[in-house]
Order: sequence, then C-alpha cells, then structure tokens
Amino acid sequence: MRALLAGGLKGRHRSGKKGRREMARKKMAFPAGTVEVIEATRTRGTILCAASARGRNGMTIGWITIGNVWGRPCCVVLVRESRHTHTIIEGADSFTVSVLPESLQEAVDLFGEQSGRDMNKFEAAKVTPVKGQAVDSPYIKDAQLVIECKIAFRQTMDPELIRADYVKGCYIEGDFHTIYYGEIAAIHGK
Ligand SMILES: Cc1cc2nc3c(=O)[nH]c(=O)nc-3n(C[C@H](O)[C@H](O)[C@H](O)COP(=O)(O)O)c2cc1C
Repeated sequence: MRALLAGGLKGRHRSGKKGRREMARKKMAFPAGTVEVIEATRTRGTILCAASARGRNGMTIGWITIGNVWGRPCCVVLVRESRHTHTIIEGADSFTVSVLPESLQEAVDLFGEQSGRDMNKFEAAKVTPVKGQAVDSPYIKDAQLVIECKIAFRQTMDPELIRADYVKGCYIEGDFHTIYYGEIAAIHGK
C-alpha cells in the first residue's frame, strides 16, 4: 500500500472495460491532492462510492476529514443511516471519493438528490464506475481526482456524546451518521 501511495506498482493495473481497473492515471503521494478534495467536497460536493455483496452505489458528500491517524494517511466520511449507501458500505471494506470536473456538476447534484434504492445513479448521471486501483469499491471514471480507502474503523454516533446545539442543527429527526475512517490506499488524478 505504501508503494502505491508513493507511485509504485507500475504495470499492475489492467486497462479496459467497465469493472476492470483503469490505467493511465497519475498516481500521487499523500498529501498531494487532498486540499483540492477537501475544497471540492465542502463547496460543491464529491461522490462517495462503495461496493459490497449488497450492491454498488454512490452518493454526494459535503463533509470530509483528511489527516494522519494511527500513523497513517486517513480519510473520514460520514453517512446517515437512512442512505442506501449506508446499507452498502456497511457490508464493504473500502470506499472511494471522486472529485468530478465542474462540467459534470449535474451528475454530482443527481448523486445527492436521488437514491440508489430507486435507480442506477451511474446510468442516470451518464458516468462510468471503474473498479478502484487499490480497493474493490469503484470510483467515477471521469473524476479529476480520486482518493481510495480501506476502512479501518467505523462507529455510529452516540447522541449522548455530541453537543446539544449540533443535535438541534443537524439531527432534529435523529438519523445519525455512521463515521468511517479509511486508510488512504491510493490517490490518483488526470
Ligand atoms: C452537497 C451535498 C452534500 C451531502 N453530504 C452528505 C454527507 O456528507 N453525508 C450524508 O449522509 N449525506 C449527504 N448528502 C445527502 C446524500 O447525498 C443524499 O441523501 C443521497 O440522495 C443519498 O443517496 P443514496 O440513498 O443512494 O445513498 C449530501 C447531499 C448534497 C447535495
């Protein structure tokens, strides 16, 4: 994993059709690219994708933390229990975060407004999911920047442990987030 972060594992990835690993993307060493991921996530949304035996899905996220935990590069995302993505990521050992170019903002919006329970959002948004280069969860093929993570720790928020004004602001109807800590296994871009 550390070799991939540093840009190693040359020639290991297959190119080609949907579901296959994609070649010809620029590998980046942590923390390169992470400020852009944080900025895109908080200003216009990025797409969190996960795959497991329960299916494959993506949803827009606006909250993210990237840093150093357990001495490893780490990316933290929050998913409410009501999301279809929650069902899928609960069966998964990985996730990815894709930054789409502004020309594909409509796709980002769709992934944040519709549920994968009702439709295949990849088809509806006309974007292609590609199997991760270091993990099994997919990323969006046209993403300008991608972070791939192996889930290290997950915990559903305990309502007793969060500030009361945050509960009023974000959880008035419950639906608390599960917080996923992912060890960053790869960062790549166009
Ligand atoms: C800009 C934006 C940011 C969002 N951020 C989050 C987030 O960080 N966590 C979350 O649980 N939902 C977030 N959502 C809501 C989900 O993207 C939305 O409910 C989505 O339809 C869930 O899809 P799913 O049911 O297919 O999982 C966000 C939506 C938008 C538009």
